[in-house]
Amino acid sequence: MLARELGGRLRLLDIRAGEGIEQVDLRDLAAVEQALAGVEKVVHLGAIPTEAPFEAILDHNLRGTYNVYEAARRQGVRRVVFASSNHATGMYPRSEHIGAEAPVRPDGFYGVSKVFGEALGRLYAEKWGLEVACVRIGSFLERPQDARHLSTWLSHRDGVALFRACLDAPLRFAVVYGVSRTSRGWWDMAAAEAIGYRPQDDADAFEGDVEPDASEHLGAQGGMYADPEFRGERDGRGLAVPP
Ligand SMILES: NC(=O)c1ccc[n+]([C@@H]2O[C@H](COP(=O)([O-])OP(=O)(O)OC[C@H]3O[C@@H](n4cnc5c(N)ncnc54)[C@H](O)[C@@H]3O)[C@@H](O)[C@H]2O)c1
Repeated sequence: MLARELGGRLRLLDIRAGEGIEQVDLRDLAAVEQALAGVEKVVHLGAIPTEAPFEAILDHNLRGTYNVYEAARRQGVRRVVFASSNHATGMYPRSEHIGAEAPVRPDGFYGVSKVFGEALGRLYAEKWGLEVACVRIGSFLERPQDARHLSTWLSHRDGVALFRACLDAPLRFAVVYGVSRTSRGWWDMAAAEAIGYRPQDDADAFEGDVEPDASEHLGAQGGMYADPEFRGERDGRGLAVPP
């Protein structure tokens, strides 16, 4: 979706080959370095996008993210926009309203990998001058599906606008939450607004038109991720863990 909406001259990489997509494994630093030659800005989305066994997170998310920043530094890339997640702070209770500067409280190895990506981004920004924006994405969906999403929904239109702001706004390092408008929000949006984000869509419009939230009893912002037994979501295309 981002590739379609952002436009411009894009180079698309994924571990899975596809039309217009170069097959690059983020675990391979040399391959990533080669792929970033001549690139001005990177949107780093590649990862296992849910909870998974630590070894898989270590390879695809931690090492993969290191390889992106390090390859970007070596190639003189100007900016990296990192897809972080609300699961970096998923253990906060829903009663708390937090900003991006609140201490991290990840709700799993996946959440820890996003904390790592943010910390590494800060290192590369402060030490080597890379521009880095980290987006703690809520729930990037066509529409809210369950009651938790009334607090976490990031519409497609707003998500694209937020990534565009992260790509274009003047910044050295930023962490922003990514949600659309909502009266049930848990996250301070000042940092996102400071880079020009103005959400258009409102989760409140879907009130009464969503499924119950199966994770409500946990009381955690991260939803079912906070359950000690949670092993990760699957997306219909099979295992979230790539080969
Ligand atoms: N969708 C959301 O609501 C949401 C919320 C929070 C964070 N995020 C983050 O946004 C990013 C994109 O998420 P998504 O929902 O589009 O998930 P997705 O699974 O559709 O996209 C992730 C892509 O990364 C690729 N990938 C995994 N390991 C790789 C590797 N070693 N080398 C190259 N490519 C690799 C996968 O093949 C996949 O195409 C992820 O980093 C995810 O953690 C998404």
